[in-house]
Amino acid sequence: MTQEELFKKLIAHSKEYGFIFPSSEIYDGLSAVYDYGQMGVELKNNIKAYWWEAMTRLRENIVGIDAAIFMHPRTWEASGHVGAFNDPLIDNKDSKKRYRADVLLEEHIAKLEDKIEKEVEKARKRFGDSFDEAQYRSTSPKVAELQSQKDSINSRMVTALNSGDLAELRQIIVDADIVDPVSGTRNWTDVRQFNLMFDTRIGSVAEGANTIYLRPETAQGIFVNFLNVQKTGRMKIPFGIAQIGKAFRNEIVARQFIFRMREFEQMEMQFFVRPGEEMHWYEYWKEFRMRWHRTLGFGDAMYRFHDHEKLAHYANAAADIEFRFPFGFKEVEGIHSRTDFDLSQHQTFSGRKIQYFDPESGESYVPFVVETSIGLDRMFLQILSAAYAEESLDGGDSRVVLRIPAPLAPVKVAVLPLVKKDGLPEIARSIIDSLKFDHNVQYDEKDSIGKRYRRQDAIGTPFCVTVDHQSAEDCTVTIRRRDSMEQMRVAISDIPSLINKEAGLRTLLEKLV
Ligand code: GAP
Repeated sequence: MTQEELFKKLIAHSKEYGFIFPSSEIYDGLSAVYDYGQMGVELKNNIKAYWWEAMTRLRENIVGIDAAIFMHPRTWEASGHVGAFNDPLIDNKDSKKRYRADVLLEEHIAKLEDKIEKEVEKARKRFGDSFDEAQYRSTSPKVAELQSQKDSINSRMVTALNSGDLAELRQIIVDADIVDPVSGTRNWTDVRQFNLMFDTRIGSVAEGANTIYLRPETAQGIFVNFLNVQKTGRMKIPFGIAQIGKAFRNEIVARQFIFRMREFEQMEMQFFVRPGEEMHWYEYWKEFRMRWHRTLGFGDAMYRFHDHEKLAHYANAAADIEFRFPFGFKEVEGIHSRTDFDLSQHQTFSGRKIQYFDPESGESYVPFVVETSIGLDRMFLQILSAAYAEESLDGGDSRVVLRIPAPLAPVKVAVLPLVKKDGLPEIARSIIDSLKFDHNVQYDEKDSIGKRYRRQDAIGTPFCVTVDHQSAEDCTVTIRRRDSMEQMRVAISDIPSLINKEAGLRTLLEKLV
């Protein structure tokens, strides 16, 4: 199965099993907007809990807030989003399709990378065991030519983006001979800047309506509350403020399912530090956030860092944590050293003093900020795509299984009475009663036990408990594990501790301290 086919199957599976639905589907949906279904919301809540507990509960110096989506419009002038939160767009005059100029170039660079890898693979086949990959990469004229094209396009693009040179961006597209994937022509317009913020109006027109924005990042809700939290929480630097909430961006290149949405959710933490100490904390948070990802057990090779060459208007260092999606390595989280840009800007725009008096140094200063910012929906997609597997079983059977880490699984335990009589449903219900205060559990008595297992595999339930006639005699049940499908007999009274140990969030959190 190609990665593209896998991704299509994943999208269909997400819908079929109640994870993700297109928004307002009965009206044919709304582009790049999605709803989470009955399974999706459970998985999403579990991801949030994993992040929230790891970032706040386990730490004495990080607290959470929940700021409003609507903020005073001056916020976005101060933050630079009104002036600089733009994507460079280009249209093809024949297809009338609009593209992000930088994305067109990045896709072209990815194609060149692919060509290099194909050359290497061809040579590997040709030379067999004697193949020296490093030597081939450094001496093959074809690879050298492709590499130099790639490097030249990349360095011109970074310079053009950093200097806002839109004419040069267009010229690179022309020089690279990039054609529109729809019309196949090179008939490009000029590149123009397009602001990504959605705006709306607050108050009635009669009252003198005001344009306000749907927040494009949750971070500003933290910055404007810096003094409130610091003073009321008696927080001492270094300390952090965390938040989970919706953000909105009018994305032009909105595709790849929930990877790039117009309405999405962020989990952000701003860590306020002494000026001059930001690089130490930047490295600290890069390491910790990578560990948080890897603790899920999908394999270290699935993640990598990507250091930014083009920095956002507020940052002096930035790196992405990238995950290997079916469509390649892509950003899931950003760690940004945001300097004192945001607090200083709010100080200037609001006219309020936003400073911290440091009792250790006896000085007042505007703190520097290191931010960790992860997209909840991308994290969701990461888990689904790493977890999805199609397996052939003995006897010619097959199954689709979601190998979601047990503490994040939407349903932790399914309790299945073998038959609907002889007191077995009552025993099953009593097991559910012993688990439901701590875990999401499901009761299922319909169809054969095999079919019931398949249904639970397909939603990623790590444990199925089967109640049979022996259960009525000796108070034991069969527990089947999702991944190995192995079954064991356990006492009913032992079930809660077993599930807590293997599917409780604590099993993940303990690895982080
Ligand atoms: N406060 C910093 C900030 O917003 P960002 O790199 O623009 O930085 C952070 O966004 C994260 O938010 C990204 O790593 C990504 O996971 C997520 N994200 C950004 N735009 C998104 C979109 N349109 N759809 C889904 N997730 C998005």
